[in-house]
Amino acid sequence: MHVVLADVEAPAVEAAAAELRADGLSAVAVPADVSSLESVEALARRAVDAFGAVHLVCNNAGVGATHALAWEGSLAIWEWMIGVNLFGVVHGVRAFLPLLVAQGEGHIVNTASMAGLVAGTSGSTPYTATKYAVVGLSESLALELTMIGSPVRVSVLIPGPVETNLASAIRNWPSHLGPVPAPARADRAGLLPIPSQLRGSLETKMHPSAVAQLVLDGIRADRFWIVTHPAELAQLIGQRTKGLLSEVDGVQ
Ligand SMILES: NC(=O)c1ccc[n+]([C@@H]2O[C@H](COP(=O)([O-])OP(=O)(O)OC[C@H]3O[C@@H](n4cnc5c(N)ncnc54)[C@H](O)[C@@H]3O)[C@@H](O)[C@H]2O)c1
Repeated sequence: MHVVLADVEAPAVEAAAAELRADGLSAVAVPADVSSLESVEALARRAVDAFGAVHLVCNNAGVGATHALAWEGSLAIWEWMIGVNLFGVVHGVRAFLPLLVAQGEGHIVNTASMAGLVAGTSGSTPYTATKYAVVGLSESLALELTMIGSPVRVSVLIPGPVETNLASAIRNWPSHLGPVPAPARADRAGLLPIPSQLRGSLETKMHPSAVAQLVLDGIRADRFWIVTHPAELAQLIGQRTKGLLSEVDGVQ
């Protein structure tokens, strides 16, 4: 597979592409800001110029971990997270999906989170709101593709804790949104904790390469949901759904 890697951190994405090239793969690094449609459209053009076509799109860029209370943290935190986590996916869909639909094959993978199905797993309200939105967007997108009879597939990735640099996402705070928000109060870093019985299994973070393998398997099997921690997710969505069902059961 030829690979186009994009990230707002130019040196990091160039280093990652160089690693792939050292392994004998064709890889191109493109500095891009997914919160900008122009930037993602330019990325799509670069990908087509480099390799002639695009078959697999991973909308994976995301930011989080500010842990400010929803009504106390600056509004710019909301703008930042919605811009990257939600509009990043919207821009990826709008820039790339027309190419996939026109060529009659392809797959798009949107990264959400367990926080896209259960509040309280991330400790950050804006983050949770954007990830619920990515889940809904992906479900709706899959229906639209089915409706038009397109063979293009959609998957939504639901990671639990993974060993990455997400905790330092603030490093990419965009200057146009004003001053960098103050660090969260230490006592709020564990805000909205996961239930105690799940703490142990969610404390050990998964290695990103294990997540990558699950994504690859999910794409090959045309699975919509790609879940890294199925047992833990089952418990969490079970609790949530039970609460909802207790409200609606017997209504009809
Ligand atoms: N790590 C976890 O535990 C976890 C859990 C659930 C979901 N996720 C999701 O996984 C995805 C990947 O995050 P990660 O955990 O690898 O964190 P990470 O910080 O290591 O990687 C995120 C990448 O997004 C890039 N990025 C940030 N803003 C950008 C922008 N405006 N334009 C382009 N790139 C930008 C960053 O530079 C970084 O390379 C995110 O969507 C995140 O929400 C992560």
